[in-house]
Amino acid sequence: MAHAHDDLLANDIEAYLHAHEHKSLLRFITCGSVDDGKSTLIGRLLYESKLVFEDHLAALEADSKKVGTQGGELDFALLVDGLAAEREQGITIDVAYRFFSTEVRKFVVADTPGHEQYTRNMVTGASTADLAVILIDARKGVLTQTRRHSYLVSLLGIRRVVVAINKLDIVDYSQDVYDTIEADYRAFAAQIGLDDITCIPMSALRGDNIIDPSPNTPWYTGPTLIQHLETVPIDDLAASQSFRMPVQWVNRPDLDFRGFSGRIVGGTVQPGMAVRVLPSGQTSTVARVVTFDGDLTSAEAGQSVTITLTDEIDVSRGDVLAAASAPPAVADQFEAHIVWMGEQEMLPGRPYLMKVGTRTVGLSIAHPKYRVDVNTLEHIAAKTLHLNEIGICNINLDRPIAFDAYADNREMGGFIIIDRMTNSTVGAGLLHFALRRADNVHWQAIEVGKEAHSTLKSQRPAVVWFTGLSGAGKSAIANVVERKLHALGRHTYLLDGDNVRHGLNKDLGFTDADRVENIRRVAEVSKLMVDAGLLVLVSFISPFRAERRMAREMLDADEFIEVFVDTPLAVAEQRDVKGLYQKARSGQLANFTGIDSPYEPPEHAEVHIDTTSLSAEEAADQVIEALRAAGRIP
Ligand code: ADX
Repeated sequence: MAHAHDDLLANDIEAYLHAHEHKSLLRFITCGSVDDGKSTLIGRLLYESKLVFEDHLAALEADSKKVGTQGGELDFALLVDGLAAEREQGITIDVAYRFFSTEVRKFVVADTPGHEQYTRNMVTGASTADLAVILIDARKGVLTQTRRHSYLVSLLGIRRVVVAINKLDIVDYSQDVYDTIEADYRAFAAQIGLDDITCIPMSALRGDNIIDPSPNTPWYTGPTLIQHLETVPIDDLAASQSFRMPVQWVNRPDLDFRGFSGRIVGGTVQPGMAVRVLPSGQTSTVARVVTFDGDLTSAEAGQSVTITLTDEIDVSRGDVLAAASAPPAVADQFEAHIVWMGEQEMLPGRPYLMKVGTRTVGLSIAHPKYRVDVNTLEHIAAKTLHLNEIGICNINLDRPIAFDAYADNREMGGFIIIDRMTNSTVGAGLLHFALRRADNVHWQAIEVGKEAHSTLKSQRPAVVWFTGLSGAGKSAIANVVERKLHALGRHTYLLDGDNVRHGLNKDLGFTDADRVENIRRVAEVSKLMVDAGLLVLVSFISPFRAERRMAREMLDADEFIEVFVDTPLAVAEQRDVKGLYQKARSGQLANFTGIDSPYEPPEHAEVHIDTTSLSAEEAADQVIEALRAAGRIP
């Protein structure tokens, strides 16, 4: 960690910057709590390297005109890109990325808080790291949190671990203490498949074995922390993986040029190479690999490039360009690890968005097969996942994607989960494998379809979706609407919450998760009924926008008419037709909508009924009018 670069720096700034830019970069994460001396350790690393860093900055500033600030900019991009996806989604996941460099290497260290409530932060920090430094307080040995950190490190595909057995000064640099902790840790690590482990005895406070070998541990012959960080191999993804590039955008400055821009996330690419576009499967050949500074003869993982092809084939944003000889698989159902990061629990069956590479698709998650206790690694039965919980779930996408298992390529197999309503990141996931059942269940072609069914009934099918509080008057109005439609000779069916909950949905209660499933099933049933050519009246509280939107999106544009039966809570409660509000208020009924369970009113309902000023007959006429306006009835 000498600063011999000073001369070079003074005499030849370009040579210095060149050397600096061509240093390798190691990204690592530190795991531990403040009590373990983590801040002291990071502080010391930064302090010891500060001279180079400051000179580097000063040089960049002084000579910015001549050489630009590219070195600096490049580094800052590296600092933040691990968080870019979350930033876009407007979530603050608190991970501090710090940058420092020595003569040999550049480093980005992700510093995350160590407590269990910060699991999501640690996952974010670890997802881009090549190595983890796990701190152990020599007085305490291997703790529950050490096991949790190690599990997360192995889950996120970090293979190399440094165990910093710290505060050795407090135990008189005892080799016995060190040996015992090392043996304990190795025994545990073997259970979770971590095998590339380097233990270092140290005192971050006193500086033992951080930079220079410490005279206080003559029995230790291994590397110091910085020696190890400077020399540990960095996995050469370009060499070990097949070429992958998710297309960020189609670059079309004029009619003569059409290139596909993105960052290479695996392998290498050269002009003349055969590539396949996924998920479409079309093949072509690379014509040019273009960058801002001119064409390249080859580019590798980590570089951002624009690729042109020899054929005019269809490629859009979100597609993946891959080596034709080793393309990724394409699927729409998977088993995945899910790390939940939302304040609100995961709702199985709810439509979320999944961002994988540069593609965003619709996602729904099934009930967890189990969740993992991150402290004991036990598998625990679970109906859902709460903040910071990790589980194994099957997931369903609304479109197929190209993917690699996370274990093979972190960027092709890692994804984030976005809430469709708030646009915030609520989870992260790792793809394991595609479910084969997706290949084995086919669509059966049916000859007599929606058109045929509705023609025979001389009508155009639709769903009229009534939503509102319990006791708002949904069912009363829906009843009148059905009577009127029936009188007009229309073929109808009324799906009513109370009734459906006696049969098809009698296994469901009133938790958020059960309501999501309740509405999912009813939406599916009403879609089938629309296929059968019916005018379907659906009367459910359906309190969440997300599921009403899901029902809407299952149908064609004018097939879905949302009717907001708007009765203020006070009025519904005062009517209390079923006596349920009273029960809820007196604590005999939990999770009651409007009392201790939320209701999200529609923002764009086709029909808005104010029941305080309209009779059920008048309200029904409004609905019939809306059906007419939508061309559903003559
Ligand atoms: S939804 O929220 O899942 O859409 P749904 O419309 O099926 O509810 O059922 C609501 C009916 O169940 C109410 O009209 C009421 O009669 C009854 N009910 C029983 N418990 C509750 C509860 N905790 N919250 C709301 N409704 C309840």
